[in-house]
Amino acid sequence: MKFFADTAEIDEIRELAATGLLDGVTTNPSLIHKSGRNFLEVVAEIARLVPGPVSAEVVALDYDQMMREAEVLRKIGDNIAIKVPLTPDGLKTCKALTSDGAMVNVTLCFSAAQALLAAKAGATFISPFVGRHDDVGFDGMALIADIRMIYDNYDFATEILVASVRHPIHVVEAAKLGADVMTAPPKIIHQLFKHPLTDSGIASFLKDWQATGQSIV
Ligand code: G3P
Repeated sequence: MKFFADTAEIDEIRELAATGLLDGVTTNPSLIHKSGRNFLEVVAEIARLVPGPVSAEVVALDYDQMMREAEVLRKIGDNIAIKVPLTPDGLKTCKALTSDGAMVNVTLCFSAAQALLAAKAGATFISPFVGRHDDVGFDGMALIADIRMIYDNYDFATEILVASVRHPIHVVEAAKLGADVMTAPPKIIHQLFKHPLTDSGIASFLKDWQATGQSIV
């Protein structure tokens, strides 16, 4: 399972990249706004820092303008994945871009039917938003299971990128269902490392080790 960081904060990305466990980054207009940075500049900086796919989202709603925006974003680097919304124009843009060799992340997916359309449009990634789905009383993980089944039935190459991850259990459940990628805020990726028994185990081993009076180096 690939791990993407859902953030536009350079320091957070640098810290995660240093763990060797970061496979890519996703951004969206809200995260760009939160960063306070210029969109094109911050995406270019992220794309230099992380070799894996870096999602950058178009903001136009019509095909022609989405294509123009995508052209600008693609020039940033070969690792840019153009993020388009799950609309008819978004999927038309997806088809055109992937046919031209670009990576495309189709975002704001909330149903298996939408995920099926995105795969037919040749999407590189489909981003079902599990947290927002849960928020309105649906089962985000059931959506992932449905998409996994459909994609496997037809051998679609589109990768399931679980987005809107809110806690470590979302990550574990997504992995159990065979999702290809998850994107989460850095705070949640850091939480994955944590277990109180790991902390207490280290403390007791160190205490006993010190009592031996030995050193390794
Ligand atoms: O990048 C898209 C997605 O991960 C957004 O998450 O927490 O705003 O629902 P959230």
